[in-house]
Amino acid sequence: ALLSPKEQPLKGKRVVITAGPTLEAIDPVRYIANRSSGKQGYAIAEAAAAAGAQVTLVSGPVSLGDPRGVETIRVESASAMLAAVKSALPADVAVMAAAVADWRVAHDSDQKIKKDGSGLPPALNLIENPDILKTVGHLHEDRPKLVVGFAAETNDLIENARGKLERKGADMIVANDVSPENNVMGGDNNTVRLVTRDGVEDWPKMAKEDVAKQLVTKIAELS
Ligand code: CTP
Ligand code: CA
Repeated sequence: ALLSPKEQPLKGKRVVITAGPTLEAIDPVRYIANRSSGKQGYAIAEAAAAAGAQVTLVSGPVSLGDPRGVETIRVESASAMLAAVKSALPADVAVMAAAVADWRVAHDSDQKIKKDGSGLPPALNLIENPDILKTVGHLHEDRPKLVVGFAAETNDLIENARGKLERKGADMIVANDVSPENNVMGGDNNTVRLVTRDGVEDWPKMAKEDVAKQLVTKIAELS
């Protein structure tokens, strides 16, 4: 069946989306990671594809299957996620929904680290990971027309989201309060506030699929 332009508002647009956590190896059996089910990012990918976009989803390890009609690239680390995002450019829209690990160990061990019997833990030397959203937001050539990030916060939601909007060169931040009582991480619902340079839009609590659909409508208006 042919869908009308109203039903396919992203027809012909290329959209790159990150989702899920990243895993940063400590040694062959251990890693550092963030909590993330990937549900919100996957729902956005599926909604963007349903709206007619050509979607590349760059996903960290999650237990979800590839969304329908979406080219899905699976990665583990933040560095690999950044490389995959770059390879998916140029795009019209970038939605960076991944919970990227902020740090990785400076030198991951190729052998399993053993307890040495002293009772003292090994010191992990951490270095900062590349910021994928910030990199994309500050591209000169190939910067997508619309760059959307997320801000997961437990406090000072709007203030932190505005800071991220500016620092990362994004056009919109989807801010969500991930205090444990909201059960966002791993849960099926999300309460978000959209922060742009024009102001803040508060959305009611909805299923992550509905947040995704409305976000795609918004993205179509702005891209
Ligand atoms: N992000 C990213 N690469 C990173 C860290 C974050 O692309 N290395 C993106 C996330 O996908 C999200 C946005 O940046 O879209 C905000 O992530 P968040 O963790 O809330 O912000 P940080 O800048 O890492 O700040 P902090 O964790 O200290 O609050
Ligand atoms: Ca972070």
